[in-house]
Amino acid sequence: MSKNSLTVTDNRNGKSYEIPIENETIRAIDLRQMKVADEDFGLMTYDPAFINTASCKSKITFIDGDQGILEYRGIPIEQLAEKSTYLETAHLLITGELPNVNQLKDWTNHVTHHTYVHENVKKFMDGFHHDAHPMGMLVSAMAALSTFYPHAKNIHDPEERRMTIYRIIGKISTLAAFAYRHSLGMPYVYPDNDLSYSGNFLNMLFRMAEPKYQPNPVLEHALDVLFILHADHEQNCSTSAMRSIGSSHVDPYSAMAGAISALYGPLHGGANEAVLKMLQEIGSKDKIPDFIKKVKAGEGKLMGFGHRVYKNYDPRAKIIKKTADQVFEVTGHNPLLEIALELEKIALEDEYFIKRKLYPNVDFYSGLIYQAMRFPVSMFPVLFAIPRAAGWMAQWEEMITDADQKIARPRQIYLGHRQRDYVPIGKRN
Ligand code: CMC
Repeated sequence: MSKNSLTVTDNRNGKSYEIPIENETIRAIDLRQMKVADEDFGLMTYDPAFINTASCKSKITFIDGDQGILEYRGIPIEQLAEKSTYLETAHLLITGELPNVNQLKDWTNHVTHHTYVHENVKKFMDGFHHDAHPMGMLVSAMAALSTFYPHAKNIHDPEERRMTIYRIIGKISTLAAFAYRHSLGMPYVYPDNDLSYSGNFLNMLFRMAEPKYQPNPVLEHALDVLFILHADHEQNCSTSAMRSIGSSHVDPYSAMAGAISALYGPLHGGANEAVLKMLQEIGSKDKIPDFIKKVKAGEGKLMGFGHRVYKNYDPRAKIIKKTADQVFEVTGHNPLLEIALELEKIALEDEYFIKRKLYPNVDFYSGLIYQAMRFPVSMFPVLFAIPRAAGWMAQWEEMITDADQKIARPRQIYLGHRQRDYVPIGKRN
């Protein structure tokens, strides 16, 4: 009968070890017993970029990258995008369940009533240069919130954690909108708590002299769908940053600032910005073959393509493509769409992309929608960060309450010099 274990023979000394397998995984620490001499440290695993290492057990988000499946707490992303709202989905991610009518009312009230920020936030926003990148402003403003809520350091108090979750989800859209208004030199718009989460965000961005902002319902819905799609994606770079920083037991605002920074990079949440720049640079359909040739020659990447986990069409990209059609009916056609569609067609038929299983990811089409909705390109990663706050907080809460977790502290393979004498500066080459 097959046993759920691995028998490993260390050929250095012929010793055999039995390593238990649990959830298709072995524990790296079980390798430590493998030594040749007593004073040896024991075997470690080497896994740069954590390609084959699970850092936690989680019940939040399931991805099957080969099949192109994404589920939040077991519910397919397609159903959530069609039937849910961002705030309801945030409740699902954080508490584990869809709320009933009263729970949703309570949850919405709590988040909505924490959308206001301290007036001093406006003062330090004003300190940024007029062309400061809104992601830089968001990172700094989120870190600064920790100074307004010092008791958020009480991370072992469930009530304090709950309040911080309301505050972070409530305030991140206000900080983002303030960053946008600052870049335009326009007065900040305060939250309108009568509106939906997405509707209020549009209000804080775009309201001018009108006494009451009325969001276009199609655009409000499209933004909400995009927020649902971006709300979590298991152990990606920024979520790992959130967990890793949070594992030091720092307050969650400081950990969030680190997570937003990780998201800022062009290989992660900055990719939607990079896609738009790429499409603009290509400029017309006839330039696509040349561009693809350059990508295949290693002179740059096809941004918005490829994924560490998905080796199939990203399910979020499929939903976004549909949402784009609805948005363009209101805003008019985005001329870059033609280039994107042709680029996708050519890439999906090309041996280079087929062999490497490179498909469009969430960022390939989202930028086209954002641009049609009048968002400047620099706001694109910010639009990713706002909804991901729900995922980051869900993952942080799970990490803090997981007895298996400790401060994150990877090992290294040291290959540098040992025990060299200090040479005085006058005697150095
Ligand atoms: N264009 C051209 N070639 C690519 C691309 C691309 N977008 N992505 C991967 N490759 C090639 C890569 O050069 C490598 O080729 P080879 O085997 O000949 O060396 C092969 O495909 C495997 O790539 P990898 O770099 O080992 O894959 P990875 O899992 O380390 O990287 C990725 C994943 C998303 C960083 C990468 O695909 C990429 O840089 N894509 C473009 C940026 C992007 O769209 N990022 C958004 C990701 S989705 C949203 C998010 O999570 O933030």
